[in-house]
Amino acid sequence: MVVGLGLIGGSFAKGIKQSGLADEVVGVDLDSRACLRAVELGVVDRCESELARACVGADVIQLAVPILGMEKLLAALARLDLGRAVITDVGSAKGNVVRAFRDAFGGDLSRFVPGHPIAGSEQSGVEAANAELFKRHKVILTPLAETAPDALQRVDGLWRALGADVEHMQVERHDEVLAATSHLPHLLAFGLVDSLAKRSENLEIFRYAAGGFRDFTRIAGSDPVMWHDIFLANREAVLRTLDTFRSDLDALRDAVDAGDGHHLLGVFTRAKVAREHFSKILARRAYVDAMNSNDDLIFLGKPGGSLKGRIRVPGDKSISHRSIMLGSLAEGTTEVEGFLEGEDALATLQAFRDMGVVIEGPNQGRVTIHGVGLHGLQAPPGPIYLGNSGTSMRLLAGILAAQSFDTTLTGDASLSKRPMNRVANPLREMGAVIETAAEGRPPMVIRGGQRLKALDYTLPMASAQVKSCLLLAGLWAEGKTTTTEPAPTRDHTERMLRGFGYPVEVNGPQASVESGHTLKATHIEVPGDISSSAFFLVAASIAEGSDLTLEHVGINPTRTGVIDILRLMGADITLENQREVGGEPVADLHVRAARLKGIEIPEALVPLAIDEFPVLFVAAACAEGRTVLRGAEELRVKESDRIQVMADGLLALGVKCEPTADGIIIDGVGHGLPAMGGGEVHGHGDHRIAMAFSIASLRASAPIRIHDCANVATSFPNFLGLCAQVGINVAEEGAS
Ligand code: S3P
Repeated sequence: MVVGLGLIGGSFAKGIKQSGLADEVVGVDLDSRACLRAVELGVVDRCESELARACVGADVIQLAVPILGMEKLLAALARLDLGRAVITDVGSAKGNVVRAFRDAFGGDLSRFVPGHPIAGSEQSGVEAANAELFKRHKVILTPLAETAPDALQRVDGLWRALGADVEHMQVERHDEVLAATSHLPHLLAFGLVDSLAKRSENLEIFRYAAGGFRDFTRIAGSDPVMWHDIFLANREAVLRTLDTFRSDLDALRDAVDAGDGHHLLGVFTRAKVAREHFSKILARRAYVDAMNSNDDLIFLGKPGGSLKGRIRVPGDKSISHRSIMLGSLAEGTTEVEGFLEGEDALATLQAFRDMGVVIEGPNQGRVTIHGVGLHGLQAPPGPIYLGNSGTSMRLLAGILAAQSFDTTLTGDASLSKRPMNRVANPLREMGAVIETAAEGRPPMVIRGGQRLKALDYTLPMASAQVKSCLLLAGLWAEGKTTTTEPAPTRDHTERMLRGFGYPVEVNGPQASVESGHTLKATHIEVPGDISSSAFFLVAASIAEGSDLTLEHVGINPTRTGVIDILRLMGADITLENQREVGGEPVADLHVRAARLKGIEIPEALVPLAIDEFPVLFVAAACAEGRTVLRGAEELRVKESDRIQVMADGLLALGVKCEPTADGIIIDGVGHGLPAMGGGEVHGHGDHRIAMAFSIASLRASAPIRIHDCANVATSFPNFLGLCAQVGINVAEEGAS
């Protein structure tokens, strides 16, 4: 039984009638014309003008009347014998309907299931009833503690039968959320149009009203009576959200008044990202969350082809992260060019925005950071979500350990499995207070307000992330913080600190900083990422007839292990046009196909090529003879266990290989032949695994389907585009 045959009630009735779930759908409406039309249009089986008669034998009673009419209606219903009928409603505010129900039914709420379909249309009335109206729309049910489970299940089932996505929520939360996301914007739209229309020059104003005004005020065309009801019904929640908004608006007003462009830019840049990544922001997550999506992005690599041309790979990931961190902590405005617009570096960028730093861009690799100095970060509004990015979490931990506020760092499924004690433990020695989940896994809760003491720390593993984390914490620690590494690792932090005018002492394996200095804004040009280039260095080496140039690649000696290893295997790589850009060496890498042979990889090169092993394993599978890797246990704790995951994939493709505790043994087939078969492999949410198998397809005898490739976007947003440009046949499955 449906009371009120307007758009919503009529659409519900019609949908249920068409679903065949009810023996009979009965309508009630005070308007006899609506009753007649409802029957004529097949919205209901019969329509009654009297409530009592309509209720006889009803299993479910749907109340689709204006909210302010609810009180009277509920009082009338309470006087009838409704048996075990379930009562539900469609009101846009729930607290007030629940109160009315409690008053009318004397506290027996077991048969009541409050509901709110978030659907509508510009049209109204029974003529507009549409059985499809709720399809793929949200319906929020706000069951009460007293609501009987069978009653809830029944109403839930009816909405699902109409194709709705049903969610359950608490009454108070529903009213808060709707006040902010629906009621406040309607109030603003009605208010703005009225305010402008009242002015004497209104005709002029409306004549020049452009798209912006029309977009912003579209909802001022909604039903005034219905909205009047909603504001009266959801008074408290609307007032709370309105007051918060008013103080934010006052701050904007003051900024305009004071000519405070910095404040305006902060609001506008934050709002722009929030708008672009709406759903994620609403869920209080950073906007990079490929791992949590259920869709399996599949790459399909087809055999054959050779590489030709000149390309530029995206900016270096490590340098991009650090440019945001140091730019934010510097005094003045830092301009960055060549910034990697991949999800990992964007997660770092968003984290600093959340801590109050105004950052413009990224726009085609350009970012402008309005630094706040070493003591200017502010508490973020909630946990900082870092997606897939281990570098963000470990380096941030060092910075956050020294702040005055608490922070929580979280990540996706892959990051949530990675070890954080390697940074948490030495930071604790410095006086930091850090909690982690079991076995030192994320989330990390970092307590603010601690005074850090300097530390002289010998790293147990070769890790630039651990080194960088401690040096960054050292910027605030009392005394001189020194790290000693067991083998050389990337030194971008040390170089960039100096670029920002911060003194760093480097003595062989030791690096030291002392607190008490400042960072001064600078200009940063991020070179192309050698780790991204590695896929093409291997691709051009293994694909016969290839001749490729990779322009403007960073060749910092702590990163060039991949070139050394490939050359030892017989690769033909030359460095052209070597130069230095912003404190980092850069060159064009010219690579031609070559007959690779298997080698024992020198252990000293392992940390210098740590991210390149997945694709180096592909090179090994195509090389003649045995390649042996040792001393690379770190690979087991990267975005995936890269030893196991690569071995599984290579074995699935018929490559002879054997994983070991700290490396792998691969027997390659050599030049000229397909090096492996085709088949199915898994990326395991690890960007570099997905890209390595894409390259492998060049030398496969049949297509390779690679599952779980969405995270390629964490480090190499345009990977498939560049593959197509140079002649590698890999694409998203299903794309033409
Ligand atoms: C990175 C250091 C390396 C590397 C990672 C980026 C950095 O990790 O694997 O992709 O930017 O400092 P470890 O230092 O933990 O080996």
